[in-house]
Amino acid sequence: MFSRFAAACTAFAFAASGGAAVAADAQRADFGTLPDGRKVEVITLSNSHGHSARVLSYGAILQALKVPDRKGKSEDVIEGYNDLAGYLAKPNYFGSTVGRYANRIGAGRFMLDGQAYTLAKNDGPNTLHGGMRGFDKQLWQVLDVSSGPVAHVTMSYVSPDGEEGYPGTLKVTVTYSLDEQGTLSIEYRATTDKATVVNLTGHSYFNLSGEGSGHGILNHLLTIPAQAYTPVDDTLIPTGEIRAVAGTPFDFRKPVSIGERLRDGSDRQMVLGRGYDHNWVIQKAPSTVPVLHARLTDPRSGRQMEVWSNQPGLQFYSGNFIDGTIVGKSGKVYRQSDALCLEPQVFPDTPNKPQFGSARLDPGKEYVHTLVYRFSTVR
Ligand code: BGC
Repeated sequence: MFSRFAAACTAFAFAASGGAAVAADAQRADFGTLPDGRKVEVITLSNSHGHSARVLSYGAILQALKVPDRKGKSEDVIEGYNDLAGYLAKPNYFGSTVGRYANRIGAGRFMLDGQAYTLAKNDGPNTLHGGMRGFDKQLWQVLDVSSGPVAHVTMSYVSPDGEEGYPGTLKVTVTYSLDEQGTLSIEYRATTDKATVVNLTGHSYFNLSGEGSGHGILNHLLTIPAQAYTPVDDTLIPTGEIRAVAGTPFDFRKPVSIGERLRDGSDRQMVLGRGYDHNWVIQKAPSTVPVLHARLTDPRSGRQMEVWSNQPGLQFYSGNFIDGTIVGKSGKVYRQSDALCLEPQVFPDTPNKPQFGSARLDPGKEYVHTLVYRFSTVR
């Protein structure tokens, strides 16, 4: 399956190259075996400028993402494991595709067309990232892998009616595409046979200095073009308020280093989140084309990443629950503030908060989330 967005990228890559043949490569290999005997594959997408992305068929996980720094040195900028055992033992949503509903649903229940649905609760009183066995813990089917001006892999997963308590059989595809410019795009599509709720996103933990660099993300500069965010209660469920960022540690309209206000205990929201773990209001509803959600710059390496998406909200999570009990790909212990997540999505708990819009998907309609990471370097 070659999506419309990937086709647009192909046209762009061809034009940007002046019409010369450019090619990104896609390769399949084994990544291990699940306890029930099913095989897991890894698909590596790479280009000739030092960018590469490795995607697992387990969890549709982005396992590694190599990006050149200002001197051209490529390093892996996301946290994760070298082997399947790590993802099975302490998944932490590293690089995952999260669903059926990314983020939290309050009290693990919601109403749809007058019917109450009760979900698996896996985060205190709430449901987080789809429940006990979300899409990050499923084996996806590899549908298509191809090289070309844009290398891509498409995977699918069929979530049965009632899985983790959600109504409707949900057919999902995710396509990762890498072009010659180093843009990695992820397109999530879903259809259902019964009204349901959907919220799919990518859960990579980024450190633009390199996940094995030994440097954290406190000096990374972050820009989020949002006037408001959604404050939370003590279980991290939005209260329903939409609060202006002006004059608070949540104002990232101009670039600010993450460490500057991370420990600002004068703002109760920083205490409740143990740092940043909140949703920023980028736009009121999904748009037809992606808009800028965030820009992250690492002065040390010169790497810069822009996150673009057509979704209304952006969850910025500063890795507050990563507690030093995990040894990652380069043999380094992962601790708080070693990496951060920027997750475009509908607002958390939208199924219980009509003022936040809608996460509903009906039969005959298609859910489409286009998530784009653009990389460049600064001096
Ligand atoms: C949430 C955090 C949660 C983490 C789990 C993030 O998306 O915002 O609250 O602890 O996922 O990995």
